[in-house]
Amino acid sequence: MSSERIQIFDTTLRDGEQVPGCKLNTSQKLIIAEQLDELGVNVIEAGFPISSPGDFKSVDEISKIVRNAAVCGLTRAVKKDIEVAAEALKNAKYPRIHTGIGTSDSHIKHKFKSDRNTILERAYEAVSYAKSFVEDVEFYAEDAGRTDNEYLARVCEVAIKAGATVLNIPDTTGYCLPSEYGAKIKYLKDNVKGIEKAILSCHCHNDLGLATANSIEGVINGARQIECTVNGIGERAGNTALEEVVMILKQHPYLNLDTSIYTERLYGISQLVSENMGIYTQPNKAIVGANAFAHSSGIHQDGVIKNRETYEIIDPKDVGVTESAIVLTARSGRAALAYRAKRIGYELTKLQLDEIYANFLTFADRKKEIDDSDIHQIIEKSQVYQQIISA
Ligand code: KIV
Ligand code: ZN
Repeated sequence: MSSERIQIFDTTLRDGEQVPGCKLNTSQKLIIAEQLDELGVNVIEAGFPISSPGDFKSVDEISKIVRNAAVCGLTRAVKKDIEVAAEALKNAKYPRIHTGIGTSDSHIKHKFKSDRNTILERAYEAVSYAKSFVEDVEFYAEDAGRTDNEYLARVCEVAIKAGATVLNIPDTTGYCLPSEYGAKIKYLKDNVKGIEKAILSCHCHNDLGLATANSIEGVINGARQIECTVNGIGERAGNTALEEVVMILKQHPYLNLDTSIYTERLYGISQLVSENMGIYTQPNKAIVGANAFAHSSGIHQDGVIKNRETYEIIDPKDVGVTESAIVLTARSGRAALAYRAKRIGYELTKLQLDEIYANFLTFADRKKEIDDSDIHQIIEKSQVYQQIISA
């Protein structure tokens, strides 16, 4: 059975860049946009053009250099926003305007001091107006995660009637459980008239650590686009992590859902974003963290040395990491020490290893991690050193 393609909509440069204190300048954004295009994302959300002259310039410049992906600009459901976005996107090969409005009762009452019918009218007008500039218009129903499904379906119908090509269903506050979010997507698939004219998009925030799980549940239930950021960066607890959703779909081929991402580029782009934004990736971050392919306990090391797949579900090369790391600590066993010693030129017999291992443990109890120069030192000071080098 052939796989269905999930569109990867990257919003590192818009939602991701909303991390306090991590603003990127235009030249940094251009470098990242170029790499996102090379990575194979389908859409690059380059910014919110009306928000500042800098953002306008970034969207404008990015539009000129991106060759493969669609370039998208965010707007509110406001005419001036849409005009400015259209202007910023005018040189894009594949321009997309992303417009929308809050649809939960909380947004309607407190943010807009409005009512449901007026929001429906504004949604229709915004999409129609955006459509007068570009063919590809994505509509977002902000706080869809807390919007009741029946009303949300009406909003979606109105957006489709006005010409929306993509319907973004954001869990703006990261509130939903995966089962709820999946059910919401299924409800829309089953109940929105004209749904075959648009694709549903998942846009999940990570306030409860569920962004990735919710996005996957969304595509299992019929959504065909995931909005995400490199390293899962973004406001508050961040967005869905691009590298996580891409690798989940790749590692579970029976879902019959795939992406166009060149996964060997994932580690490189993770480093690029982290360096440019000055946000260090937590070591245990899935896929791209420094420890994602590092093994330090003796039992795990022994297993991985015998066969990598004993404790690894992903080949590190598939995500651009050269190899799995065998980290030497006081928890490491003889197999790991012998493996690391061999890599720096020492082939140890069982008896030699026994002696060196005892010295290694004393050393490792004093130092957190043993590096290659420590191994040299331990071996050189051992009684079997002459024996080893004359073998
Ligand atoms: O989280 C959200 O609702 C958003 C929209 C503006 C798309 O980022
Ligand atoms: Zn968002």
